[in-house]
Amino acid sequence: MKVLLLGKNGMLGSQMLKTLSGGVDFEMYAFDKDDLDITDETALKSIFERISPDFVINTAGYTAVDDCETERETAFKINSEASGAIAAVCKAENAVLLHISTDYVFDGENSSGYREDDVPSPINVYGESKLRGEELITKNWDKYYIVRTSWLYGENGKNFIDTMLKLGKTKKEIDVVDDQIGSPTYTKDLCEEVIRCFLMPYVSNLPKQHDRTIGLGYDSSMKKLPFGIYHLTNSEHTSWCGFAKKIFELAKLDIRVNPVKSDAFPRPAKRPHCSILLNTKFDCKMRSWQDALKAYLAFF
Ligand SMILES: NC(=O)c1ccc[n+]([C@@H]2O[C@H](COP(=O)([O-])OP(=O)(O)OC[C@H]3O[C@@H](n4cnc5c(N)ncnc54)[C@H](OP(=O)(O)O)[C@@H]3O)[C@@H](O)[C@H]2O)c1
Repeated sequence: MKVLLLGKNGMLGSQMLKTLSGGVDFEMYAFDKDDLDITDETALKSIFERISPDFVINTAGYTAVDDCETERETAFKINSEASGAIAAVCKAENAVLLHISTDYVFDGENSSGYREDDVPSPINVYGESKLRGEELITKNWDKYYIVRTSWLYGENGKNFIDTMLKLGKTKKEIDVVDDQIGSPTYTKDLCEEVIRCFLMPYVSNLPKQHDRTIGLGYDSSMKKLPFGIYHLTNSEHTSWCGFAKKIFELAKLDIRVNPVKSDAFPRPAKRPHCSILLNTKFDCKMRSWQDALKAYLAFF
């Protein structure tokens, strides 16, 4: 089984590589921009032909949400056209593609959250470019899983928790927005669930008692999921303000957190008010965002 990972140095990609490396003896191939620029179609074709992967995980992307507003062309090149090109080379090699997308494909006006089949309507360039990427994937290849997730944090990346903890060292009081709601998601949990639900059912030749496989969450009752779009996050939701309060509570820092509206922090890209992604397609085992946060903070 040949697994090819794109975006291996990113926040999610580096966790994916770590989680995969600690488990089954896949034949692993992992790349980032320096080894394989996904906007270079010739390089993509050549590497895919050489490896002929069975399963491709694409975590690469242009993720600077505010910069996308001024770097529209780059955003579309990386998040849209390159995603379509990856789907095309997957088709040529008959490889399953698992591609990571985002809550930002929705406008955030539905306060009950978004199902996988709700109609997307992005309100910023990043969301537009990610949605176009989804469309090009579905146009170019049938064997895809598009996994939308939200509010990621993890060990190897600049994230909200690290920003709060840094601020907590110098301030006694901070303002945090409370009119954006979503599910903070720990990259470790997301990677484990992606592997358990989407990848492992393809690893058919490993005996059930393979202890390293079990370590990766091998679940023999998990059948191959139908191709399509999925929503995957830690469970339950909160606002950035609620998230900040919980971070300080768990870190035992006595910081006053004041709820403010988004317009108190004007930014180039608009953010959706509601980023709740509903998983209506299978029994997701991801823990609550509070429990995940506790586990993440235990590293400090
Ligand atoms: N972070 C979130 O809160 C969040 C929420 C929902 C969905 N997502 C999605 O999750 C995925 C992973 O996000 P992340 O937070 O891990 O982002 P990240 O840390 O920015 O990782 C993205 C990786 O892609 C690489 N990359 C950029 N352009 C490339 C190119 N042309 N060729 C090859 N690699 C390239 C980046 O390399 P350089 O750093 O060298 O440019 C980086 O290593 C993305 O698809 C993102 O849209 C993220």
